[in-house]
Amino acid sequence: MTGRVMVFGATGFTGGLVCRALARKGIPFAVAGRDEIRLKQRAAEVGAQDAIVADATRPETVGSLAAGPTRVLVNCVGPFLRYGWPVVEAAVAAGVHYLDTTGEQPFIKRVADRLDHAAREGGSTVVNAMAMEYAVGDWAAQIAIDRCPMSTIEEVALAYSLQGKGVTRGTALSILEMFGRRGWSWESGQYRRRPVAFTGRTIPFPFGERLCLWAPFGEVLFLARRGNVKTAMTYLRMRRFTAMLLRLVTPLGRPARPVLRAFVARTRAAGPTQTQRRRSRFTIVAGADGSRAVVSGNDPYGLTAEIVALGCEHLLGNGAPRGVRSPATIGLDATTALRAVGVVVE
Ligand SMILES: NC(=O)c1ccc[n+]([C@@H]2O[C@H](COP(=O)([O-])OP(=O)(O)OC[C@H]3O[C@@H](n4cnc5c(N)ncnc54)[C@H](OP(=O)(O)O)[C@@H]3O)[C@@H](O)[C@H]2O)c1
Repeated sequence: MTGRVMVFGATGFTGGLVCRALARKGIPFAVAGRDEIRLKQRAAEVGAQDAIVADATRPETVGSLAAGPTRVLVNCVGPFLRYGWPVVEAAVAAGVHYLDTTGEQPFIKRVADRLDHAAREGGSTVVNAMAMEYAVGDWAAQIAIDRCPMSTIEEVALAYSLQGKGVTRGTALSILEMFGRRGWSWESGQYRRRPVAFTGRTIPFPFGERLCLWAPFGEVLFLARRGNVKTAMTYLRMRRFTAMLLRLVTPLGRPARPVLRAFVARTRAAGPTQTQRRRSRFTIVAGADGSRAVVSGNDPYGLTAEIVALGCEHLLGNGAPRGVRSPATIGLDATTALRAVGVVVE
């Protein structure tokens, strides 16, 4: 394992957890962010080798993130639809590996559509959503597919049940960035633009059957890119009333976004408490033509940091295939990876 990791957004909630997870693994890393004073404090707290000032709104400052001994650039600065593009472009231009924590489906699609060729040519492995959303679902889908005897799968369906309180400002702003947008679904070998909750189904979770509505998650894109999955659908457990409300307010998303963004940026500074993190639970059910996998765990933020650190360790080992890849297609065994980060696999 040679070279070091650069963590951009290290002053943030998730970036800070990522630094601590890297330190626990003994992986050398530097930190980057826009506020020099807070960045230096963070560097000292987490034992970073170096601190680099860069602002995603000033692309000329971003090239330094992928320079020098950096072998893996980790981006924790969201919303990615606003700030992410120059960062992933800089990594690919420098031939450096790239991981991020985005949950924004349109950003994941743009990266795969526009950067796969350059990443292959330049020797980078690029992995979006190396985070609770959507690495865990991608690995769960992989396990369900592996359990299925068919080589071509008619349908992979993933359903999330999320419980708990407390999100960070970055998460709130990123959800807002998605609010009002249609998402991508993959139906009979074709992408379709669909509004959230356009369809739903009842999913058997270990705790009983629950209504789940369609939501534009990243696994749709990961599964579509595999070439052997005809339909990929992602669902979120939701009450009927919430789904109805969502359908009603979705058209307001785009015009209301600037006002809501300013409001969220002012009001949601703190992230979840330790107790809220511990109590935040998820269960994901993956089905592939009758075969099934169920994964569950808690503390999505802590889990995200562990997933990023695992990805960094793997990419520094230099064994991953090049190009834009999904978490389940970089050469980590799905069950081993999930168990390594503390997720229960059934
Ligand atoms: N997919 C998942 O499961 C998952 C899990 C966790 C997080 N996430 C995503 O990761 C992102 C970060 O989340 P978070 O919890 O860390 O949020 P956060 O605590 O609000 O941190 C945001 C970070 O971005 C930095 N930043 C914002 N604008 C910047 C700019 N123009 N240039 C440079 N840095 C900038 C902030 O810097 P300052 O400190 O200077 O403000 C801070 O370091 C969000 O998009 C979130 O949705 C996804």
